[in-house]
Amino acid sequence: MNSEKSSFLKIRLSSIHPSTQLTFSIYVLINGKFTLYLRSGDKLTFEKLQLLDSKAQGDFFYVQVSEWVAYKTFIQEQINSSEIAPLEKAQILKASSMAIVEELFEHPDVNVALDSSRPIIENFVTFMQAEPEAMAHLIGLSGHDFYTYNHSLDVSIYALGLGKALGMNPKELEELGLGSLFHDIGKRNVSLDILCKKGPLSKDEWTIMQLHPQYGYVILNANPTITDAMKAACFEHHESFQGNGYPQQLQSHEIHPHARIVAITDTYDALTTQRSYNTPLMPLDALVMMKEKIHGRYDPDMLNAMYSVLFNQKKSNAS
Ligand SMILES: [Fe+2]
Ligand SMILES: [Fe+2]
Repeated sequence: MNSEKSSFLKIRLSSIHPSTQLTFSIYVLINGKFTLYLRSGDKLTFEKLQLLDSKAQGDFFYVQVSEWVAYKTFIQEQINSSEIAPLEKAQILKASSMAIVEELFEHPDVNVALDSSRPIIENFVTFMQAEPEAMAHLIGLSGHDFYTYNHSLDVSIYALGLGKALGMNPKELEELGLGSLFHDIGKRNVSLDILCKKGPLSKDEWTIMQLHPQYGYVILNANPTITDAMKAACFEHHESFQGNGYPQQLQSHEIHPHARIVAITDTYDALTTQRSYNTPLMPLDALVMMKEKIHGRYDPDMLNAMYSVLFNQKKSNAS
């Protein structure tokens, strides 16, 4: 089962616009077995969508790793299509990304998951360049409900917005987007008991939790396609601008700029998202809190730029 599982990747059906002809096959997991449901060449009709929904276990549908390129191209074509509205494109992008971000934490082979998540960020960056209101749509789709994987994607979307506001070029944005997508990948090595514990962690549990930047560094360092900036976004995202963060107690500009960005978007997402034990803050309240109560932790210029990312956007009707 485990070896079979490593040759499939999750997708969300909402990443596929109905009535488009598939260029890859879709599988569902029934009683622990991957079962072919739609063959390449079939069309995803509304009736089939309903049938798939009732047969499959959970939310998930799968594509073989060997057909991943076809799936990726398919998503790209939907994003480039002039027949699909920008908000729908943003929804497709988000849906296509969410399943693969889950794989970052669950797929047996982390390197397969790392490699397959690369196009997510390329697609976001292209989309941002092509559709001037893209960021507002994407931000409008972020931050309402919480689960760990969604967190990685939302942190990454906010980071792209902030990076763009700070004048980064598409190449830098891609590096930043991937680094922020991977920032918590070290949590793969932290037990679910600790990750999902309701209420405060004990001292020992907290010590383990605080190791996730190091764990992440080790995972990323083993993959030759990961750049230093991406490793820094992961390893240094819990450093604090005033020098009392972890694990290295770096301060101000010793902290890599990508990690300074992730520090902001990470906290912002945690404060504005519903978890079982907190009430989410409204966007402005979250930024005011970061500025006034915990201000020493963030790069002040970047924090100011975050205001423009969130409030100078044309309002998206997605939210
Ligand atoms: Fe973290
Ligand atoms: Fe995080």
